[in-house]
Amino acid sequence: MCGIIGYIGKPPVVETLLDGLSRLEYRGYDSAGIAVLNGNGIRVYKRAGKVKDLRATLQHQSLDGHVGISHCRWATHGVPSDINAHPHVDCRGQLALVHNGIIENYAELKAKLLSQGHRFQSQTDTEVIAHLVEEHAKRLSLGEAFRKALQELRGSYALALVATSDPNHVYGARCGSPLIVGVGKGEMFLASDVPAVLAKTRRVIYLNDQEVIEMSSSGVQIMTLEGKPIKRKPSQVTWNLASAQKEGYDHFMLKEIHEQPNAVEQTLFNRLASTAPQITFDRRTTTLLNRLSPDERIVILACGTAYHAGMVGEYMLEEFAKIPVDVDLASEFRYRGIPVDPNTTVLAITQSGETADTLAGVRLAKSQGAKILSICNVMGSSIARESDAVIYTHAGPEIAVASTKAYTSQLTALYLLTLYLAKSHGALDPKRWQELAEGLCRLPELIEKALSTERAIKLIARRYASARDFYYLGRRYNFPSAMEGALKLKEICPTIHAEGYAAGEMKHGPISLIRKGWPVVFLATDSPVYEKVISNIEEVRARKGECIVIASEGNKTIRRHADALIAVPKTEELFSPVIVAVPLQLLAYHIAKLNKCDIDQPPNLAKSVTVE
Ligand code: M6R
Repeated sequence: MCGIIGYIGKPPVVETLLDGLSRLEYRGYDSAGIAVLNGNGIRVYKRAGKVKDLRATLQHQSLDGHVGISHCRWATHGVPSDINAHPHVDCRGQLALVHNGIIENYAELKAKLLSQGHRFQSQTDTEVIAHLVEEHAKRLSLGEAFRKALQELRGSYALALVATSDPNHVYGARCGSPLIVGVGKGEMFLASDVPAVLAKTRRVIYLNDQEVIEMSSSGVQIMTLEGKPIKRKPSQVTWNLASAQKEGYDHFMLKEIHEQPNAVEQTLFNRLASTAPQITFDRRTTTLLNRLSPDERIVILACGTAYHAGMVGEYMLEEFAKIPVDVDLASEFRYRGIPVDPNTTVLAITQSGETADTLAGVRLAKSQGAKILSICNVMGSSIARESDAVIYTHAGPEIAVASTKAYTSQLTALYLLTLYLAKSHGALDPKRWQELAEGLCRLPELIEKALSTERAIKLIARRYASARDFYYLGRRYNFPSAMEGALKLKEICPTIHAEGYAAGEMKHGPISLIRKGWPVVFLATDSPVYEKVISNIEEVRARKGECIVIASEGNKTIRRHADALIAVPKTEELFSPVIVAVPLQLLAYHIAKLNKCDIDQPPNLAKSVTVE
């Protein structure tokens, strides 16, 4: 949450910073700000609102300079306002900094700094860092003062700092919040995430926790908090700029929904071939999986949409690989003392690889001896680096706050994992294994077909866009799908209340709310519980609820149970969560669009949840 950028190189610095910032806006969008350093000192512009509002403010300013920092905010301490927006400055306005994270001991630091005569302007935790550096810089060089200040902070941070006393450097540091260095030609970048620098460079250095940098236009020095130098070479990023742009779509979410056939193909690429009856992973993943015995436990940790993928993962790993699995919300796992030991493999599922709760869960499990395997989209992210092995989804950058292609590619990685373990543990008859492997190979093509439901879905969306409550119901593999469908809708259309339930749970409480016209989305694709789902549909219809049914193509009888029908390609039950995800995402998207919602940047949310 919050995006930061630092830049040093060539003018016009403002355009470079704003362009990068607009690509980080998915991380926070309640306020934005910029500080530019030139011969006349530091000029700071900041305001509540989005990057476009900041851009409008800057339109009539002539801001030259070759060094600057900028920030987009997701408020933690202090309401979104002009004053609380970053950058924050010291008493004399001689240094400015931007911050992503939370300083937990800010109150005690602030009290001390106030007693030393520092004057504060904002209610943020961040401002203490500016004053702390100012205080130490009375006796030390800027670099030393910065490092000394960092040693006093408790909490998480990614920081970028500029100061008039050292106009040829940008300083940065990370601890618990992501930060990368972009290496250009005669220009250097510091950013929370790779898309911010993609327009300028694909050479990137990933920083680790407790690392500090001093960046000039020609290079970067990385060091420890104590100033000990660290050597690290840049990596080449495979993502390109087009993948981080809307390319004609109205929203990133819609673009990413349509990218799913390709994203899933990328997850399968080089790992499963329809001709060879085997799954191939990289060496570290293979070693970890080959050491996993059938009586070992897998604990899946994730949040939000990734947790829904984990729920599907639990069902398939238990059914086909016969391995006992627990799936836990990372935010619960980290505080509830669940026993893990060297006989536990923790499987962390995360798009960003930076989600604070998932990262904390991984660290806790690791400290207790568990092995860590992760399913992750962002290369070089914290969770990827702290895992013993990683199955990268290779879905490309996901910019919209609502997760779509990350989800279906996480499911795809789970299918690969399940088939790998089912085979290595001899848990599945070879003929059945081959059938499933062939089904998995066909997923991209089936997703493409599922996308063709969009026209029908637009009409359904129009019919139900004014409803204020929705239920989503499914059983077995599509119980998590129901939760995911409801999350998509309430996330991007905040005027609507939506709940996902196991269809069999309706009669234990939720059915009491059903009244005339209440829309209920049913997942009724082919499965061993299909008839049970039909009974649940009838229970809702008997109470005059409206049933929007997603069913398998070729089902001749379903129409009589449905007020609105979406037919999706037939597939094995375990693959159906991928196929039904597509109409669920499209339905949420088109309802939100009709309700004129801010689809890519819904209120109160941020893409990467790097605070607790
Ligand atoms: O980056 P992660 O996969 O760890 O993120 C986890 C959740 O924050 C995320 O899936 C969130 O629920 C999505 N915005 C839902 O669409």
